[in-house]
Amino acid sequence: MSLDLHKYVESIPDYPEKGVIFRDILPLMADGKAFKQATDEIVAYARDKHVDMVVGPEARGFIVGCPVAYELGVGFAPARKKGKLPRQAVSASYDLEYGSATLQMEYDAIKPGQRVLVVDDLLATGGTIGATIEMVEKMGGVVVGTAFLIELKALNGRKKLANYDVKALMEY
Ligand code: PRP
Ligand code: HPA
Repeated sequence: MSLDLHKYVESIPDYPEKGVIFRDILPLMADGKAFKQATDEIVAYARDKHVDMVVGPEARGFIVGCPVAYELGVGFAPARKKGKLPRQAVSASYDLEYGSATLQMEYDAIKPGQRVLVVDDLLATGGTIGATIEMVEKMGGVVVGTAFLIELKALNGRKKLANYDVKALMEY
């Protein structure tokens, strides 16, 4: 029987600042059945897309992306916060409320023409996923889908993904 995954997301008012409701997915990940169902739903979405690689941004994108890659039988490449990679890297920056942040991937993480599924736990403004897609495309990858556990509709991240296929398991 299918679980209502919303029941495994805790909503925390006024975190990290007043007026924000933080959607915490750690309870979902802590529950074996809910985590498996969420993984299976993303795998089902990706199954017919002939994915060669899964890419996820640090840190929660790793947790969502790795079991999906394992189930699809393909590799996983992380998009890391700047300064963590020992080899040559490609970079992409995105805007934060104050200032900007930079993500990096190893320069050869994606081979030209590879079909890439980009995943993360949550789509908010779309800055993180936009920067991740930018790096995949710099390397010649083809983004065949994007998948999230949660989409925060009010923050309009989907607008940045107008040219991509988007799957969100839950909306808030
Ligand atoms: C959070 C979340 C997404 C991103 C979504 O990550 O896990 O990656 O923000 O926001 P956006 O759509 O506005 O970019 P965070 O940068 O807090 O990193 P973490 O996973 O290391 O906590
Ligand atoms: N939950 C988790 N991560 C986030 C959120 C949230 O509500 N907003 C931006 N990143």
